[in-house]
Amino acid sequence: MRILITGAGGNVGRELQRQITELGGHTISALTQADLDITDFEQVRRQIAQQQPEVVIHSAAMTAVDQCAQEPDQALRVNAYGAQNVALGCAEIGAAMLHISTNEVFSGESNRAFLEYDVCNPINAYAYSKWVGEQMVREALTAHYIVRTSWVFAHGGNNFVQKILAAAAAGRAISVVVDEVACPTYADDLVEASIKLIATKRYGTYHFANDGAVSRYDFARYVLDSFGYTDTPITRIVKAQWQRPSKPPTYSALRNFVGAQMGISLRDWKQAVVAFAEKECKSAEH
Ligand SMILES: NC(=O)c1ccc[n+]([C@@H]2O[C@H](COP(=O)([O-])OP(=O)(O)OC[C@H]3O[C@@H](n4cnc5c(N)ncnc54)[C@H](OP(=O)(O)O)[C@@H]3O)[C@@H](O)[C@H]2O)c1
Repeated sequence: MRILITGAGGNVGRELQRQITELGGHTISALTQADLDITDFEQVRRQIAQQQPEVVIHSAAMTAVDQCAQEPDQALRVNAYGAQNVALGCAEIGAAMLHISTNEVFSGESNRAFLEYDVCNPINAYAYSKWVGEQMVREALTAHYIVRTSWVFAHGGNNFVQKILAAAAAGRAISVVVDEVACPTYADDLVEASIKLIATKRYGTYHFANDGAVSRYDFARYVLDSFGYTDTPITRIVKAQWQRPSKPPTYSALRNFVGAQMGISLRDWKQAVVAFAEKECKSAEH
């Protein structure tokens, strides 16, 4: 299959390249922002028309949530209109699109994990831009998979787990909120599930996150313990003590109902952290 990846330098984009290359039998065009700016419609159309992918995996996004709060118009340009540009480019050549979205499209107020077709109610600029992006993709292209995920951690790159580990290694003080709950997701597991999904041609909306919900604090504690930082303290704080431009939802756990019906499910988040730690340790030995 010919596969085009946007945002190829990001947490998810790097893992997509790794797994698809390892699988073999596919032609990949892995495009970073330097190769393709998704906000430029003509450039997007041209690239997609030139490469003729059968599927575009759209992982490019403006993911810095505080920057999105400070520059909401730019967040919309990248996360909403950028996604629309890609969807329209796919529609022109008859390609499918896997669009990655977020748990933050939900309000954060629920007494159960959110299902794929629950009502969205974004409460911050990043979430709003991603929610608009989802709708634009649905309107522009029937052949879409919208895959929502949450709290992605990956080998390398810029993500919560890497930041916590770097702080622990440097002996810096660590404070983490207890009143933000969601599902951590190992990029390896998200990508594996997404590749399986593409083979189904069952278009629609999916929730791919590791199983189980946890507070940021408990997640950070488990990560540090898994890497042997058992004596490193973490100060428990609440969101009100951490003034920041973006307001994350309090509870935004995702339940994978639709994918599980098709036999695609992700392991428990603790097992994923252990697998991540083992792989990190192995690569550090080499
Ligand atoms: N990380 C999470 O916890 C998380 C949670 C839920 C959903 N998601 C979603 O998952 C997807 C992948 O996230 P990620 O963690 O891989 O994010 P990431 O590491 O920030 O990667 C996103 C990539 O998009 C690129 N990009 C930004 N603006 C662009 C533009 N105008 N044109 C082309 N490329 C552009 C960035 O390039 P530069 O590096 O050059 O800026 C970056 O490499 C995103 O859709 C995100 O919303 C992520």
